[in-house]
Parts: sequence; C-alpha cells; structure tokens
Amino acid sequence: MNATAALTGLGTALPTRRVTNEELSRVLDTDDQWIQSRTGIKQRFWSAGEATSDLAVEAGRSALRSAGTDTVEMVIVATTTPDHPCPATAPDVASRLGLGVVPAFDIAAVCSGFVYGLACAAAHIAAGLASSVLVIGAETYSTILDPDDRTTSVIFGDGAGAAVLRATAPDGPGSFLAFDLGSDGSLKDLITIPDGGSRQRTSGSGPAGSYFTMQGKPVFRHAVDRMTESARTLLETTGWAAGSIDWFVGHQANARILRAVADGLGVKSDRVIMDMDRVGNTSAASIPLALARAVADGNLVPGDRVLLSAFGGGVTWGSSVLVWPDIVAL
Ligand code: COA
Repeated sequence: MNATAALTGLGTALPTRRVTNEELSRVLDTDDQWIQSRTGIKQRFWSAGEATSDLAVEAGRSALRSAGTDTVEMVIVATTTPDHPCPATAPDVASRLGLGVVPAFDIAAVCSGFVYGLACAAAHIAAGLASSVLVIGAETYSTILDPDDRTTSVIFGDGAGAAVLRATAPDGPGSFLAFDLGSDGSLKDLITIPDGGSRQRTSGSGPAGSYFTMQGKPVFRHAVDRMTESARTLLETTGWAAGSIDWFVGHQANARILRAVADGLGVKSDRVIMDMDRVGNTSAASIPLALARAVADGNLVPGDRVLLSAFGGGVTWGSSVLVWPDIVAL
C-alpha cells in the first residue's frame, strides 16, 4: 500500500516589527473599532527588512528542529510574495537550510498555498518520489500593499509557518487522511497584482499597478461558500461528523468568515481556532501559524481531530483533515 504523509514537525517565524490598529489609524482613515469588529484583527507584524525567504528559512529551521531532523528530500514554498519573480524562493531556502541539492519549488495558490503545498507533499510521498518534505508558507504582504488602501492595508500581515511531512504507515499519528482542492479562474480578477507578468509587464500607472488589490465583498462570499463546501466534501469522504471535529483551523482571513463556515458545517464556535487578532491575514502562512498558536496555548493536543480549510486568490480553495500528532511547535 502507498505510504501516507504524516505531520512530524511544525515551526513559525514572525518579523520583528509589530503594527497595531492604532498605528494604522494614524495614517489611514480607519480605527481600531472598525478593524476589530469587521475582521477580528488587533495587530499584525510587518517586515522590518526581512524578505520572504528570511522568514521561510527561520520557520523551516524551527520545523526541522521540531521534527528532530536536519534532512528532508524536498522543499515546497507556498507564497504570493516571492523574493523575486525569478528564480523561485524554495531553492534558496533549501540551500540556506543546508538541505543539499533536493528538489525545491514554489506554489502560487495565494491564501490556499499551504494546503496546496501539503497536498503536493503528500502526493509525492504516496508516489514514492520523496519520503520527507518540508512545506513552508511564507509571506511579506507588507511589500505589496498599497499604503493608501484602507481596505487591504489593515488586513494583511507578514510571517511564515512550516511543516515537516514524513512517510508513515496508513493512519499513523498525524497522517493527512484526505484532501479536497479546487479553483475557479473565472473569478481571477477578485484578487490581483495586475503588473509584472506576461499579460502586463507594466500598466504605466507607476507603483499602483504592482500593488495587491482585493474586492472584499465578493471574496468574503465566495470564501464562505467554497470553504464550507470543500470542508463538507472532506467530512463526507472521511465519515467524520461535524460534531466530532475538535478544531476547525481555517485560513485566518476574517473572524466573520470562519464563524460563518463553522455555522454552515455545524462545527461549534468554540471549536474554531482564531489567530487573526495576533497576526492578521498572513495568506499562505496563516494556517501553520494558527496551528502553532493552538498548540502553544494548550488547545490542540495529540489525538484531536483537526479540519483545515483555506480560500484564496485564483480563486483557489483546499481542505484537509488529520488526527493531531504528538509534536512540539517551535
Ligand atoms: N476602516 C474604516 N472603514 C472602512 C475600512 C477601514 N479599514 N475599509 C472599508 N471601510 C468602509 C468602506 O469604505 C465602506 O464604507 P461605505 O459604506 O461608506 O461605502 C464600509 O466600510 C463597508 O465596507 P465593506 O467593504 O462593505 O466592508 P465589509 O464589511 O465587507 O468588510 C472586508 C471589508 C475587506 C473586511 C471584508 O469584505 C472581507 O473580509 N473580505 C474578505 C477578505 C478576505 O478574506 N481576504 C482574503 C481571502 S484570500
């Protein structure tokens, strides 16, 4: 039988610069009350010069330590904010972690990137192409935010989270039991960075074309629908009742989105991990950061049934389930 991929290590990194809602209220037409009530966010961390790879290396090193290893056979970095358009960020991260000449590549699935990365790692392990994979979600959204756009600037934060997956016997502790992934490119314009690609190297509008844009309202609606549907599909696949989920760890876009998804699924609200108050929406880094916090807070313990679900630009979505292993998050 094919090997299953199990979670064996978890690590995180945040930039040193903490940015509160009060600080943003001094430069934007916004206030703490609006941000907290509409999103659940109290603060975020923004790069003080750290590049995405710097955060990825730090999180990756911690994840390797958490897994008790200094080797893996593949590195995947999920990011919307790579160090450069070319080359990918993952080979640099692998090299700086001293992992040798292993295959290393980036995944561009925006906020669903970490779940896509986990699925990709699990598929490589099941196919026998690797026996261990380091999956990192790392972002520096502060480098692509329009400083004058209050609808995006208050939401996004920087950070990285990393997981080590290793081949294990089917249903071993921490194994990913199933995945559900999807996309709908007809909605590609909801979340964009217009300039810099082959369609439009530059729009001639100066830096504006290279800023991140988001149509918040439709994104909100599609995020709720797709995450709910994807998670429900997985629960059907695994035969898990919604009431048996110990923790729903969704992409930390907005507290209201996560509550709506939990409601739709029938997962109790006190079973929803919320981490956006501390770090904002860190896109591909948000799920591993939330998992690490849940472990650190003593909420997530070995044996817990965990449901992951994410939604992001593309648009893309993805979900997975696992029974939590006995690991330390570093
Ligand atoms: N501070 C104060 N007011 C703000 C504001 C801010 N930071 N941002 C928007 N507003 C205003 C709007 O201008 C609007 O004012 P108006 O009614 O006078 O026109 C009002 O607040 C409501 O704006 P709206 O866009 O309808 O707010 P919302 O309740 O939809 O919340 C988001 C906006 C962005 C928080 C919300 O749509 C959202 O979370 N979307 C999904 C984001 C997401 O999940 N992204 C990642 C997916 S990968």
